[in-house]
Amino acid sequence: MRHDRRRSGYPVLIGLMGSGKSTIGASLAEALGVPFVDLDAYIVAWQGRSIPQIFAEQGEQGFRALESAALKDQLGRPCVLATGGGVVTRAENRALLRAHSPVIWLRARPEVLAARIAGDRNRPLIAGTDTLSRLRELAEQRAPMYAACADWVLDCDTLSAEQAVARIRAWLADETPLR
Ligand code: S3P
Repeated sequence: MRHDRRRSGYPVLIGLMGSGKSTIGASLAEALGVPFVDLDAYIVAWQGRSIPQIFAEQGEQGFRALESAALKDQLGRPCVLATGGGVVTRAENRALLRAHSPVIWLRARPEVLAARIAGDRNRPLIAGTDTLSRLRELAEQRAPMYAACADWVLDCDTLSAEQAVARIRAWLADETPLR
């Protein structure tokens, strides 16, 4: 992980689908008294189309281009920002995230994620697939990318949203050096 810059900006959450970025992000924002922005919801409102619609009409790469534009627009604003699970797949997005802090990786095992999102129709990347195998594949591909962008990792497998928020707040407030 990178050096300790945790107090220099507003928290950004990264991690796979189902890791709790939106739920935890919204509670964290409330606790910190700042607005919450969900990048997927921002794209949907901006485009006036759902995520599955965007994927169907423009393909994944079309969606990724919109996602990069949205990230450029929203990163650095005074808010808690929850990103889509695939935001780290583009090098330009990783560069933006690495220049920002704090970036927090909500990490969970594919088994835990699959149980949460199986059957979700709003996530084109898992639609019609064996959710667990797909998540295992995505976890393997993306783990190094999340790690490259993150200032800190929170393992969420057994944490409630409330517990996760408490852990993040403690980490944000902690003034001891990381090592
Ligand atoms: C994606 C994750 C989704 C959404 C899109 C693609 C991904 O966001 O951006 O369906 O590539 O992992 P969530 O992580 O909020 O589900």
